[in-house]
Amino acid sequence: MNIVDRIWNSSLGKKYLMALTGGALFVFLIGHLVGNLQVFGPPELINGYAHFLKSKPLLLWGARLGLLACVALHIASAVTLAQLNAAARPQPYATPGAYGASKASQYMLPTGIVIASFIVYHLAHFTALLPGVNGVGDFSKLTTTLHGETVPDVYAMMVLGLQVKWVCAFYLVAQALLFMHLSHGLAAMFQSLGFRDHVWWPRIECFAKAASIALLIGYSIIPVAICLKLVGSDYVERKKYDLKAANPQPAPAFVAAQGKEAK
Ligand code: HEM
Repeated sequence: MNIVDRIWNSSLGKKYLMALTGGALFVFLIGHLVGNLQVFGPPELINGYAHFLKSKPLLLWGARLGLLACVALHIASAVTLAQLNAAARPQPYATPGAYGASKASQYMLPTGIVIASFIVYHLAHFTALLPGVNGVGDFSKLTTTLHGETVPDVYAMMVLGLQVKWVCAFYLVAQALLFMHLSHGLAAMFQSLGFRDHVWWPRIECFAKAASIALLIGYSIIPVAICLKLVGSDYVERKKYDLKAANPQPAPAFVAAQGKEAK
């Protein structure tokens, strides 16, 4: 049996895999938050950052494929471990949640599933720019000029995208579930890697709480500030005309002429 089979076929190996891929996704979340918080600066700040990332295709695609592999392995190891646990104890506990298990730890699988669905939506929303999912229009038409070059206007896309109330609400629900998932998952990651002892455990639990609260606040203030029109609302008023110009409504005379033809 090769090393990959040995890791995958042992529950300890799967636990390590889940912990390491979870750790990599946590590092991504910190980096992604730092990048997104630039929306509180002038539009050129986040637009310049997004343009920089897109101008390094090797780095961008390396990170994207690495992330995709981490998400896939994290989900696959979580699901198979849950199946092994269920097979080991077919009879459920008489009192669910007893024996010191926190709410967050009991809901790791359902919160993980909603977060995965959020990621699918989020990629369609801001990466694939599918007009049908954003409630606004074709974001690929939003461009701006940066140092004489025409680049995607990521700032306008974020502001217009998150001003839509139901989108903002969905983002906030996803952040709340991400907080729940991380508040248990981060501590569990250290436990799986063998750091649970009476010296380290209280510190690890404290770190897991502090880090998940910091991410919750950081990720939630973006949609909240945008939805309350505290960020970029003047800037996007002008951009709405660009979107309309890219997708013009037929002139009333044209509609009337078409109506006559149909008769
Ligand atoms: C308020 C919350 C968030 C905002 C405003 C936000 C914003 C964005 C934006 C604007 C992009 C596209 C970047 C570009 O095209 O240059 C993006 C991509 C992405 N986001 Fe988020 N994000 C948020 C939360 C999250 C969360 C919680 C996750 C993971 C659980 C996540 C995962 C991703 C991934 C995987 C990409 C694709 C990166 C790529 O294009 O390679 N985001 N996000």
